[in-house]
Amino acid sequence: MTKEDKYKSLLPQVKALCEGETDMIAKMANVAALLHHEFGFWWTGFYRVAPIMNCEFRNSNFNIQNSELILGPFQGPIACVHIAYGRGVCGTAWKERRTVVVPDVEEFPGHIACSSESRSEIVVPVFQGDEIVVVLDIDSRELATFDDTDRRYLEEVVKFIV
Ligand code: SME
Repeated sequence: MTKEDKYKSLLPQVKALCEGETDMIAKMANVAALLHHEFGFWWTGFYRVAPIMNCEFRNSNFNIQNSELILGPFQGPIACVHIAYGRGVCGTAWKERRTVVVPDVEEFPGHIACSSESRSEIVVPVFQGDEIVVVLDIDSRELATFDDTDRRYLEEVVKFIV
């Protein structure tokens, strides 16, 4: 089965899991599990855009300057909890508002190594209207696991989350 065939058979499953469900956490949890076990990735999960909870925040309105990425539902080894705007692959996808494909994490300046096993990575932003609310992050133990096929299908997969 090609990668494309796998994604094609996975999309209706994602649809069935998410349709009629309003709770995003539940949807993220099941989608992470489905992708992770179908493809055997090293780490598959979500980071949510959330307010930075400190004193400053209490006196200001929610905006991109006082928000960060916080760990959400995932499958795989434990991971870092907080990622700042523009930091690492996740923060870069959030800032640049696009999917980031990293064939070799060692070549990506500022890559955040939650696990030394991770060799390549893809991060897909999840839009709610014009706003990014979540990013999907997938790590592989092999180099160059992800390409344009992954980007194309994963961008379809994440639409079911919102
Ligand atoms: N490598 C990511 C951090 C998250 S972990 O891979 C789960 C990054 O550089 O943003």
